[in-house]
Amino acid sequence: MKPALIVALDVPTAREMEEALDQMPDIIEWYKVGLELFCAAGPACLEPLKKRNKKIFLDLKLHDIPRTVANAVKTAASHGVNLLTVHAIGGRAMLEAAAEAARECSNPPKLAAVTTLTSLSQDDFADLGISRTVSEQALALGELAISSGIDGLVTSAHEAGVLHKKFPDSLLVVPGIRMPDGEIGDQKRVATPAFAVHQGATHLVVGRPILQAEYPESVVAAIFADIKNAS
Ligand code: C5P
Repeated sequence: MKPALIVALDVPTAREMEEALDQMPDIIEWYKVGLELFCAAGPACLEPLKKRNKKIFLDLKLHDIPRTVANAVKTAASHGVNLLTVHAIGGRAMLEAAAEAARECSNPPKLAAVTTLTSLSQDDFADLGISRTVSEQALALGELAISSGIDGLVTSAHEAGVLHKKFPDSLLVVPGIRMPDGEIGDQKRVATPAFAVHQGATHLVVGRPILQAEYPESVVAAIFADIKNAS
């Protein structure tokens, strides 16, 4: 499968989203809408993406009782969303309900589970009463999500290799992508597109390196060239 490049539209308003879209090269097929933009502009902010025939990754990281999450999955699907995130920590019943709800949709979205937020450290785990290491937790929750019928996982490139080996048929959605000479910003564990793809990433999520570039088209071209090197 050819890896997909997803541009994260991390902007606060629908107007800024449209301005960003106007700067993006046509070759980009996927865009991610996250909590900030979705809370500000609602499902209406997905319309400009649909009008441009783009694929939509709605990154809401759903985590609630099974029925509520299942209904949210169906509603998101009705807005034409192609990929949606849930929290694996919601547990098997929630994950199975989400997967079943997606399957029942006429245009089923793919579901990717977040195993552990990358912002959590081992100290946070202690506060939360979790005795596993961060990587044990990622693997255990990955197993839980995939065995519950979820299509894939959100992971850093550095864990992607292990997850790809364990779940070779699952989607691996990888943020924290930077070009070798790029600024890393607040990301801690970054990787190049080639490294991520080599580790088994099926979807690369890139925000600031493209959104804030003076020439987004050349950054996108460099990313695709780097991906080609990996294959
Ligand atoms: O600007 P940047 O390329 O760092 O953006 C990465 C995107 O991926 C952001 O939308 C961020 O919220 C998301 N993300 C992440 N790390 C995770 C999960 C999601 O950076 N572990």
